[in-house]
Amino acid sequence: MRNIDIQSIKQRFGIIGNSPLLNYAIQVAAQVAPTDMTVLITGESGSGKESFSKIIHQLSPRKHGQFIAINCGAIPEGTIDSELFGHEKGSFTGATDTRKGYFEVTDGGTIFLDEIGEMPLGTQARLLRVLENGEFIKVGSSKVQKTDVRVVAATNVNLLNAVEKGRFREDLYYRLNTVPITVPPLRERGEDIYLLFRKFSSDFAERYRVKPITLTPDAVEELLSFRFPGNIRQLKNIVEQISVLEYDRELDANKLRHYLPREQGGSQVPAIMAKEPGADQSFSERDLLYKVLFDMRRDVSELKKLVFELMTRQPGDGELLKEHSHLFENLEQISHVRPYKSTEQPEPYYLPVQQARHEEDYEEKVEDISHETEEEGLSLESMEKEMILKALKKHNNKRKYAANDLGISERTLYRKLKQYDIEN
Ligand SMILES: Nc1ncnc2c1ncn2[C@@H]1O[C@H](COP(=O)(O)OP(=O)(O)OP(=O)(O)O)[C@@H](O)[C@H]1O
Ligand SMILES: [Mg+2]
Repeated sequence: MRNIDIQSIKQRFGIIGNSPLLNYAIQVAAQVAPTDMTVLITGESGSGKESFSKIIHQLSPRKHGQFIAINCGAIPEGTIDSELFGHEKGSFTGATDTRKGYFEVTDGGTIFLDEIGEMPLGTQARLLRVLENGEFIKVGSSKVQKTDVRVVAATNVNLLNAVEKGRFREDLYYRLNTVPITVPPLRERGEDIYLLFRKFSSDFAERYRVKPITLTPDAVEELLSFRFPGNIRQLKNIVEQISVLEYDRELDANKLRHYLPREQGGSQVPAIMAKEPGADQSFSERDLLYKVLFDMRRDVSELKKLVFELMTRQPGDGELLKEHSHLFENLEQISHVRPYKSTEQPEPYYLPVQQARHEEDYEEKVEDISHETEEEGLSLESMEKEMILKALKKHNNKRKYAANDLGISERTLYRKLKQYDIEN
């Protein structure tokens, strides 16, 4: 038997991992590659079947011939025969020319038929014939043609099930399955999960110019015990998400869990939407959505406040602040932003509204400004008023509890009561 250097194959085809099941699959691919045998690659979605088709072609004497990958699930049933085997001019509406199919143009090369389970039964009959004796007939023709194509097929569904249900030809199944290669699911690849995590983390760090994400030991445990139904594709997506979103570059198990979807049942809606048993039903889902909106608005306003403070501390002439002053126009509660007393601190830039007013007047001024934009936000404003009234009613006009329920400070509630002319 030939001596197969699995490590160098992995390197060449960018395959990460060292688990025995993966190594075995690579070994079978390398052994079968130089023959002309048909290969069926099976494995769950996202497990990495595609690289195997490339290994088989590249390590075969056909490597200088064409390699074409076709996703059988993506070609409409009406055109797949013509795509694969070609058609004669006039054989159907729109067939203005005679056209060669993939089996003709790939003569001497390899065709990768991905998602073979999706192939229509009629096409399966044509495929069987070409696998048996290299013969095919163009759509609308009666002339038998010959071709020499090696077929590698892949599926993420159980083809035997499809055979039982009459959706896949049994004879074709056995013909394809001469040499099966099983790509293991990620959850059965042990430490490979962490290897892949680090690889993707460093790839995305480079792509997004950020620091790579690292994991604490308990997070590694958490990662290794996740089942990854979407396999490598899912892991890659998760790492990308973390790389872009996470502020702390080291994740512990708790943080990581936020990115791993809950595996069984469980609602995916935000916690605020989930009704706790016995929760007060007077707040409808719409109310809750509005509450989310208001919470977001509050967060934005907090952020603006923070940015405003930071900008006033910046040395310089306050140009940046002037340039962006529109962002701070209707900022709530900015009255505490005072000039820095310290002598090293530069004079902060004041918004026009601040220059004009004393501290006590800010809120009033802010409200004046917000009234100018009242038209746009009318429905949102009236919803807000409605929610405030509901909250007050629910808590027997106790402002502290109402404010708490609404997620705003008592002070803001007080201001809003004035704004909406709400009398207790
Ligand atoms: N061993 C590996 N090392 C690094 N990346 C990998 C590896 N295997 C797969 N990938 C990456 O994982 C993703 C999914 O792989 P691939 O498209 O081959 O899955 P698949 O098995 O064909 O899935 P499907 O059945 O859904 O088509 C791709 O982005 C691929 O680059
Ligand atoms: Mg695929």
